Amino acid sequence: MRRCAVLISGGGSNMMTLVRDMTGDHPARPVLVLSNRPDAGGLKKAAELGVPTAVVDHRDFPRDREAFETKLNSVLEKANPDIICLAGFMRVLTPVFVDRWAGRILNIHPSLLPKYPGLNTHARAIEAGDREAGCSVHEVTDVLDGGPILGQARVPVLAGDTPETLASRVLIEEHRLYPAVLRRFAAGDRTPIVLSTTSESPIN
Ligand code: GRF
Repeated sequence: MRRCAVLISGGGSNMMTLVRDMTGDHPARPVLVLSNRPDAGGLKKAAELGVPTAVVDHRDFPRDREAFETKLNSVLEKANPDIICLAGFMRVLTPVFVDRWAGRILNIHPSLLPKYPGLNTHARAIEAGDREAGCSVHEVTDVLDGGPILGQARVPVLAGDTPETLASRVLIEEHRLYPAVLRRFAAGDRTPIVLSTTSESPIN
């Protein structure tokens, strides 16, 4: 049984779907939910689901990413995860951290990578006039939002979409995609998964 730690910074809706899916014949189980923010709403949700939680507050390590990650590692090593899922985790991890856990870190990013790495992905897709948007689950490497893609889900961009309406449409797919990818990854299968919604008629 693979041990899975989930890192969050906020509400943890992706974490919730991962934790809820890790039951029965799923090859992984959640062993820790860790946040860099003590006020992250996901911490309470994880505790309610019976998952151990921890906080490593990045504000305790001002301008010292290495010290933050050293603390992060010491907490993670106690949980001894085989897999680390970043789920709404908003801290950029240095190559030191990524190399320490190489090949075992997944992230979900709200764009169809390699398009729109970084922030404000939905606003950028709308601004560019894209007819499709979506989310990607990828392995975390030294390149921000740049690792091998393990899954993607596509949604239409509709007339009148705002970043908020598009984000909520994509988030529904994130909650389908990430558990599907984690199941496969935990079973040792890196074959990419592509999901597509029943397409509403995108703007032509
Ligand atoms: C999601 O849009 C996810 O793509 C991004 O963070 C947002 C919030 O995630 N990484 P969650 O609700 O905290 O899981």
